[in-house]
Amino acid sequence: MQLKEINITKKILVSEEFENFIPNDLKEEYNFELTGDFRHSIGSILDENERNILFSVIIIGSTEYRDIYKLMNLLDYSRIYYQIVIIDMEEKLDISTLDRLYHISDIIVTDMPVSKKKFIIDKSFSIIKKHFQNEQKKRWYYNKLIDSQNDQDDLINIGQALSAEKDIDKLLRLILSLSKKMTGADAGSIYLVEEDENGKKRLRFKYSHTFSREIPLEEFTMDLNKNSISGYVAVTGEVLNIPNAYEIDAMAPYSFNPYFDKENSYISRSMLVVPMKNHIDQIIGVIQLLNSKEDLKSRTHGNEAFTVMLRSEEDFDRYVVTFDEKYNNLLQAIAGQAAIALENGRLISQIQKQFEEFVKASVSAIESRDPATSGHSFRVAEICTAIANEINDINYGSYAMTKFSETDLKELEFAALLHDFGKVYIDLNIFRKAKKLYPRDLENLKLRLDYLYRFIELKYASEIQNILKSGMPAGSDEKIRELENAKNSIIKRIGEIKEDLINLNEPTVSDFEPMELLESILQELGKFECRDLTGSPIEVITDENILNLSTKRGSLNPVERNEIESHVTETYKFVSKIPWPPEYKNIPEIALRHHEKLDGTGYPDGLKGRDSISLQSRIMAIADIYDALTAKDRPYKKSVPLDRVLCILKEEAANSKVDPDIVELFINNRVYEKISMP
Ligand SMILES: [Fe+2]
Ligand SMILES: [Fe+2]
Repeated sequence: MQLKEINITKKILVSEEFENFIPNDLKEEYNFELTGDFRHSIGSILDENERNILFSVIIIGSTEYRDIYKLMNLLDYSRIYYQIVIIDMEEKLDISTLDRLYHISDIIVTDMPVSKKKFIIDKSFSIIKKHFQNEQKKRWYYNKLIDSQNDQDDLINIGQALSAEKDIDKLLRLILSLSKKMTGADAGSIYLVEEDENGKKRLRFKYSHTFSREIPLEEFTMDLNKNSISGYVAVTGEVLNIPNAYEIDAMAPYSFNPYFDKENSYISRSMLVVPMKNHIDQIIGVIQLLNSKEDLKSRTHGNEAFTVMLRSEEDFDRYVVTFDEKYNNLLQAIAGQAAIALENGRLISQIQKQFEEFVKASVSAIESRDPATSGHSFRVAEICTAIANEINDINYGSYAMTKFSETDLKELEFAALLHDFGKVYIDLNIFRKAKKLYPRDLENLKLRLDYLYRFIELKYASEIQNILKSGMPAGSDEKIRELENAKNSIIKRIGEIKEDLINLNEPTVSDFEPMELLESILQELGKFECRDLTGSPIEVITDENILNLSTKRGSLNPVERNEIESHVTETYKFVSKIPWPPEYKNIPEIALRHHEKLDGTGYPDGLKGRDSISLQSRIMAIADIYDALTAKDRPYKKSVPLDRVLCILKEEAANSKVDPDIVELFINNRVYEKISMP
C-alpha cells in the first residue's frame, strides 16, 4: 500500500508553560512548537491543505489534559494521529483526572534524564505511525468490502436493467455506463461484430464514452483480425488486462493504436478488454474499458468513473491504476449478460418488424376488396401519428402537458391500422350502396311497375275486346270510351308513381316523411289488381323496397346501418384476440371507440364526453372523418375539397361531435400538410 496523495507532518506540540522542561538538544532534533492555543496550532496545519495529515506528540501538564481531551474529540480524527505526554513536576502530578489512557504515551517528570524523555517521544511517534498504518489498512479493507458489495449490487442492477431495456441504442449506453461505474474506468467503447454485404465479418465501433473528454461519436468499421486490441479479443475470446497500453510487449500479436490519444490529447494507460459472448458462445462484440481510476484508499470511493477528471498528464499519473484482476471475470459476466440482452433486443425488434409488416399486409389485403377505399387505414394511421406528434410539440392549450412516448405512438399507429379491420365481416355491397335501393332492386321494381302497366293495359284491352266480340250492344261506344279513359288515367298514374319512386330512391335528406308518400302509393297500387301468369297476385312494391325507400337520411336502411356500425365491435373482437404485450393493451379499446361522438350520438355505446372516450380514440375519430372526406373520388362518392373538409370538421367540433381542441390544432398547425400519403 503506497501512501500516495497525502503529506505527513510530524510535530511535537508543547504547552507554553513547559518550555523549560524540554532540553535544548531535543528541541534541535525534533520539530517543536510551543503553543498556548492547540486548536489553532493543529488547525493551521490541517487547514493549509486537505491532503495534510498531522502526526503529533502533544506535551502538556496534567491540569490541561481535560481541555485537550475535549478539543481532540472535536477534530477530524482521520487526519490527526496523536499521543499525549503528560509532563509535570513530580509533586504537581495529578493522575486521577486522566482518562482515555490509550492516547497517553507516558508521564514525564521534569527531572527525568534526557535520554528517557527522548525514548518516550520516539515511542509516541512509533505508536502514532502504527496507529496510522492500521487505520489505512482498515480503510483499505473496508473499501474493498464496500467495493465488493457495490459490485454485487451493480451486477444485480445490471442484470435487471439489461433485461428491462429493449431499445438497442439505449442498451449499449447502459452496458457501457454500468461497466465503467463498476470498474472506475474513465473511458469505454463497445464494438459489435457484424457482416458486410459480402458476408465477411468485421468489427463496428458502435458506441463510446470518455468522461474526461467531450468527443463526438463517429461509427466506423474495421477488419476483424488480431492486429488491434479489440480485434484480438473479438477473434480469440481472451480477456486482456493491460497495465499500460504504451508498454505492450513488442512480441504480442496485437498492438496499440495511439491515434485516438493524439487526436484528443488523451493518454490511454490501463485497459480491460473483454469479449461479449452470446448464449451459444459466439462472440458478438467487445467491451473495451480504459484507465481505471478506482481508489480503494479514498474516503469517497464508489463513483470515481464519473467524478475524477483526467485533465493533465499529472492527473493520469496520479489517478490511473491497473484494472483490478477481479474485473476480468466480473466484466465478462456483464458482457455475457449484455450480449444476451443485445441479442434479445435484436430479436424483439425483428419480431416487432415482422409483426408490423404482417399487420400492414393483412390490412392491405382487406382494403383491396374495395379499391375505392384502399389506403384508408394507412392514411388514418399516418394522420393519427401526425396529430399525436403535434400534441407532443405544443406547450399550450389543454394538451400542453400531454406527451406520447414512442410506445404510445406505436400503440396508436397499430390501433389506427386496424381500426376498420372488422369491415372484413361485412357485405361489401353495403359499403358501396349509393342509393336507397341496390341497382338490381330498382330495376326489378321498375320492371314490376312496367308489368303492372302492361297488365292494366291488357286487362282493359281484353274488356274492350269482349264488348267488341259481343256485337257492340247499345251503349257499347260509351262503355269503351269510359274504359279507355280509365285505362289512360291508371297507366298515367303508374308512370307518375314510377317517377316518385325513382326520386324516393335518391339518398338525399327528405324534407318530408317518405313513409307517408309510400303509404299513399301503396294504397293506390292496392286498388289495381296485378297477377302473374299463374294467377297469383303480384306485390309490385316489396316489403324490402318499403324498408329501403322509407329511409329518411342517406342510402342505408336501419338493418344495413346496424351492420355497418357493427364493424367497430367486429374490429374489437378480432383485435382483442391478438396477444398484445402490456404496453399495447389499449389497442382494442382505442379502435373500438373511433365512431363515438362527444355528444353521445356515436356508436357502438353512445359514450358521452371527453372523460369517457380516450384521447387516442378522439384523435382517430378526426383522422377518420378527414380521410373519408378527402379520399379520392369513388364511383359512389365525390371527394370533398380541402377547405370544405376543414369547415365540416369545425362544424363537427362546434356541434360537440369531435374534440374541438384537436380540430383546432389540426387546422391551425396545418397538421394535414404534414401527411405524406396521397
Ligand atoms: Fe370505421
Ligand atoms: Fe375508418
